[in-house]
Amino acid sequence: MNLLIMGLPGAGKGTQAAKIVEEFGVAHISTGDMFRAAMANQTEMGVLAKSFIDKGELVPDEVTNGIVKERLAQDDIKEKGFLLDGFPRTIEQAHSLDQILVYLGLELDGVINIEVDPSCLLERLSGRIIHRETGETYHKVFNPPADYKEEDYYQREDDKPETVKRRLDVNIAQGEPIIAHYRELGLVSDIQGNQDIDDVFADVKKAIAAIK
Ligand code: AP5
Ligand code: MG
Repeated sequence: MNLLIMGLPGAGKGTQAAKIVEEFGVAHISTGDMFRAAMANQTEMGVLAKSFIDKGELVPDEVTNGIVKERLAQDDIKEKGFLLDGFPRTIEQAHSLDQILVYLGLELDGVINIEVDPSCLLERLSGRIIHRETGETYHKVFNPPADYKEEDYYQREDDKPETVKRRLDVNIAQGEPIIAHYRELGLVSDIQGNQDIDDVFADVKKAIAAIK
């Protein structure tokens, strides 16, 4: 099963992706996670990505398309299927993905579109905390870890309010044509994201059952 998960920054893509991966065993391909790993390792691509991510801007399409193509070409994908998270983010990336999938002999089965009221997103992102050791995402209020110790968690650099505002503007402007593209192909399942995490996941599972 080959899926995309879409939604504004803070919509809950990563949170739901972790649950989908656990339940269905697909490979999670998050371009944001790939860029953050490259940034942590200070690779050439990481240094370039950081100059965009820290401002809330998108990394240039040619860089992003390249890392996605490379990952989708790996052996495990045909066996496990994939869940793309955070890609495509421009209509050009969507067209590139169409071509990459044809080239690799893969087909997209569905698009999970998490819809949220943008007014809740600043609170979600400013309260997001990530466990240093496991990389698991929590929220100080909405999804607190059982054994919270401040030093074990960090916050993302791009979750500062001024960067969040720019990320939201960029993603709102770019997102509509992408969803329209997949609606035309009849692939989109809309999910109400303003519910508890487990209720969102119950709806995601129903949508996936309908796709399979
Ligand atoms: P990326 O890492 O993809 O960030 P994003 O799209 O901004 O999305 P987030 O990861 O911030 O949010 P999410 O939807 O995963 O929410 P989460 O589950 O964590 O990209 C980062 C940057 O990299 C981009 O800005 C760009 O610069 C670059 N980049 C990445 N991909 C690119 C591409 N394709 N092209 C170009 N550039 C690219 O949840 C958020 C918080 O809310 C958490 O604390 C969580 O616990 C909580 N939460 C989740 N669900 C709920 C719920 N139902 N109720 C209450 N709280 C909830
Ligand atoms: Mg994410």
